[in-house]
Amino acid sequence: MCGIVGYIGAQNCIPMLINGLKRLEYRGYDSAGVGFINSNNEANNIKVKGKVADLEAAINGNELECRIGIGHTRWATHGIPNQINAHPHSNKENTLLLIHNGIIENYSVIKQSLLKDGYEFKSETDTEVLVNLIDKTLKKKGDLFQAVRFALNEVEGTYGIAVMHQDYPDQLVVAKNGSPLVIGIGENENFVASDVNALIAYTSKVIYLEDHEMALVTKDRVKVKTISDEKIKKEIQEVKLTLSEISKGGYDYFMLKEIMEQPESLRNSLRGRLLEKEGISKLGGLTGYIDRIALSKRIIITACGTSWHAGLVGEYMIEQYCNIPVEVEYASEFRYRNPILSPDDTVIFISQSGETLDSLAALKETKRRGALTIGLVNAVGSSIARETDCGVYLHAGPEIGVASTKAFTSQVIVLALLTLLIGRRRITSPQDGVQIIKELKSLPEKVEEILKLNNQIEKIAENFVDADNFLYLGRGYNFPVALEGALKLKEISYIHAEGYPAAEMKHGPIALIDENMPVVFLAPSDSVYDKVISNIEEVKARGGRLIAIASENDHKIDGLVDYSIKIPNTLRMLMPILNVIPLQLLSYHIAVKKGLNVDQPRNLAKSVTVE
Ligand code: AGP
Repeated sequence: MCGIVGYIGAQNCIPMLINGLKRLEYRGYDSAGVGFINSNNEANNIKVKGKVADLEAAINGNELECRIGIGHTRWATHGIPNQINAHPHSNKENTLLLIHNGIIENYSVIKQSLLKDGYEFKSETDTEVLVNLIDKTLKKKGDLFQAVRFALNEVEGTYGIAVMHQDYPDQLVVAKNGSPLVIGIGENENFVASDVNALIAYTSKVIYLEDHEMALVTKDRVKVKTISDEKIKKEIQEVKLTLSEISKGGYDYFMLKEIMEQPESLRNSLRGRLLEKEGISKLGGLTGYIDRIALSKRIIITACGTSWHAGLVGEYMIEQYCNIPVEVEYASEFRYRNPILSPDDTVIFISQSGETLDSLAALKETKRRGALTIGLVNAVGSSIARETDCGVYLHAGPEIGVASTKAFTSQVIVLALLTLLIGRRRITSPQDGVQIIKELKSLPEKVEEILKLNNQIEKIAENFVDADNFLYLGRGYNFPVALEGALKLKEISYIHAEGYPAAEMKHGPIALIDENMPVVFLAPSDSVYDKVISNIEEVKARGGRLIAIASENDHKIDGLVDYSIKIPNTLRMLMPILNVIPLQLLSYHIAVKKGLNVDQPRNLAKSVTVE
């Protein structure tokens, strides 16, 4: 969950490390540090509690000129966020420096044996155990790369690490297992990082490390081996990402930029994937697997957080248009539940980052049991994209804001494309196919219409800044949207919120309703509209403060609710893409009006690479 970065070459590395850490800050932002070997060949580090900006302030004034360095921004797992627990961690002599993203699960066992060997520990972290283990091994082996390799063969858990030692000023040793790590290839310099965002300002040539791989990186060479010492030939890949795509583009926050980008991100998700005449979609990444998918006995969708909500919408779509039974599973539960899987099953892994460890672990378990694995992923080249049998990229563009927005709408639109592809091979008629395509193409413009309501939604938000709780209610396809609306508000405004199927309310949650409880209803004019209106009446009768997301030509609802946001209509299966936009904006404005940093909400990180 942390962000790591490293540099070795002819330039002064400090500016590159700081810029890289700023680009990785969405991965964790409770403390930060850099490690370097200065011009007198002395290893040293500067660490702070707080953001990368605080680290930059701590560095300024130190005329640091270094050709090799590592940097880290932290999301605490072991040990509170403070200066001592910040990375890099070092050995007693402060000659060996290491940064780590992941969890060393057997650290306490190793720590006990190191304590017996007289090692002392300054921090509460699992990472410092690895530093001392490498130090102990180095004293025996006298070779940094081999010392790291031997030490890694003793640890259990996940890691993306970068290691340097003042006796080896021309070497960076990096290794990966479970946590992402990419190497950037430069001219007479090389870079390492948790993801390409930190590198693309300097190079577009990268090498992705796989699990249990490590590399010796010098300024003009990269040697890759497994941790069992086998040489590996790695392919250098080209990254097609621009700096402007990962910049705020004049917006206050990445979250607002990404909400406003949705007409374009949806167009990108659809581009080249619609065969209008045939009323069918085309997904190149599934070539060779479509028959097997269409003949699946069962489809299981597994994911976490917002991606899990998109999966729930996918369940409704696939069952309605493909007539294949679908189950939606939390990845963290699925992998430990001894899932019943067979080669007739297809398992879809939805992930924006493609690095969520719970989903990755569920993927490994699924592959072990022979089911077909499909990845619906946004981050190009990410682990889930590389490890699934086939898949579809969202093409939503980089998503930096921790609260997922455009990735959700692109996940749902890609699930609609997948549904159409399979459905047209099963029960969906050509006419229905043509209509779905017509509606899919209309979505970007309809989203543009909804984004014009931003000011109205901001005004509504002003009335709820002091709320302590919120309820979100929806039926059918809009139940997952209610869950997503509640999650958005929770994660960026810290207001407790719950999403429920509207009908479920009277089986308990209605007890929460009083004049202080804001209730958001998803009430489009569809086949269950009247049922939703009854639920609205039930809440109104108990004094709840009512907000409704309704259809643009619905005037009846105005008399029933305190605030109504009118949006264009589309097919029921596609309404979640439109209905979620006002909820994204509502949570954004409430959080901003509370003076909160919506891009880096407390305790969260964009890519959850620990269990
Ligand atoms: C959503 O806003 C959160 N950032 C979080 O719930 C996220 O959806 C979850 O961690 C899954 O991430 P993924 O899509 O990258 O796998």
